[in-house]
Order: sequence, then C-alpha cells, then structure tokens
Amino acid sequence: MIGDQPEPGTRFPDSRPESEQPPWRLDFPIDVPQDNYIARRDSVKFLVLTSFAFVVGQIWIAAKSLVRGRGAPPSQRIATVDEIPLGGAIGFNYPGPTDPCLLLRTADGTLLAYGQKCTHLSCAVVPELEHDRLHCPCHVGSFDVATGRPLAGPPDAPCPW
Ligand code: FES
Repeated sequence: MIGDQPEPGTRFPDSRPESEQPPWRLDFPIDVPQDNYIARRDSVKFLVLTSFAFVVGQIWIAAKSLVRGRGAPPSQRIATVDEIPLGGAIGFNYPGPTDPCLLLRTADGTLLAYGQKCTHLSCAVVPELEHDRLHCPCHVGSFDVATGRPLAGPPDAPCPW
C-alpha cells in the first residue's frame, strides 16, 4: 500500500474495481498476490521456528531430567522424634522448596514420610491417622498410611515416599 492508496496491480478479492469497493476494504486492503506470497513464506517460517522451539524444549527437558536423576538428593534434618506427637504429623519441603511432604508418627511410634501431592491431580493430601489413611479432599481419594497404596477414589498410583 502506498499512503492511503492501494499499490498498482492490487486486485480485490471480489474482482470489482476500486471505486465499487466498500469503505472498510479500502481502509484494510489486502494485496492478494502479495498476501499469498507472504502467507506461504510466513507459514514456513512459523513452522520452522515452532519446530525449532519444540526441539529446544525437548532437549531442555531431557537435560534437566538427566541432571535431576543423578544421585539421591541430600539428607535433610526435619525434626527430632520428640517434636512429632504420637499419631501426629508435620509438614516439610523436600527435596526442593516447592515439594511439600509429610512426616507422620503413627500411634505405635512408626515414622513414615510421604510426598503431600495426590497422585491424581496433585491436591494436598491430609493425614487422618485415626483412620490409618491419607485423605485427598479434592476428589475424595485416600491412601493407606502404612504402604501409600491407593484405597479409594480416583488415584491409581501410590502416594510417593
Ligand atoms: S486430586 Fe486427589 S483425588 Fe483427585
């Protein structure tokens, strides 16, 4: 487009002359031959760049999982036994600050640790030691306290240790 005028050779999609075009089309003219050329080239650019971004993303994810998978995370002091009441629990984050976990002390004194994210859709599970289970309030799922095995509701994978 040159100024307010369409470029010479511009064809309108309905093939009518410029004088018969509606005002909106003159405000937003589409140079059909240029549009086809640019659209094809832009599409190829978009596809190449998008594919490149996906490849870079996959490489990033693979590298990150390789680095994360090396070795066990370091041990971390959570609490002393006396700080956890019998039949009680405390929350902590491990191995990272965004990984909520629970340290449980059952009525017989057994210490158990679980990740607090439900294996269904990652809601926080709540200990219900009086019922020997971890309860997920989101979809009424529950896990066995002793084994982490799913007992009820939609979760089908055990609660992670
Ligand atoms: S998120 Fe826990 S049961 Fe759905």
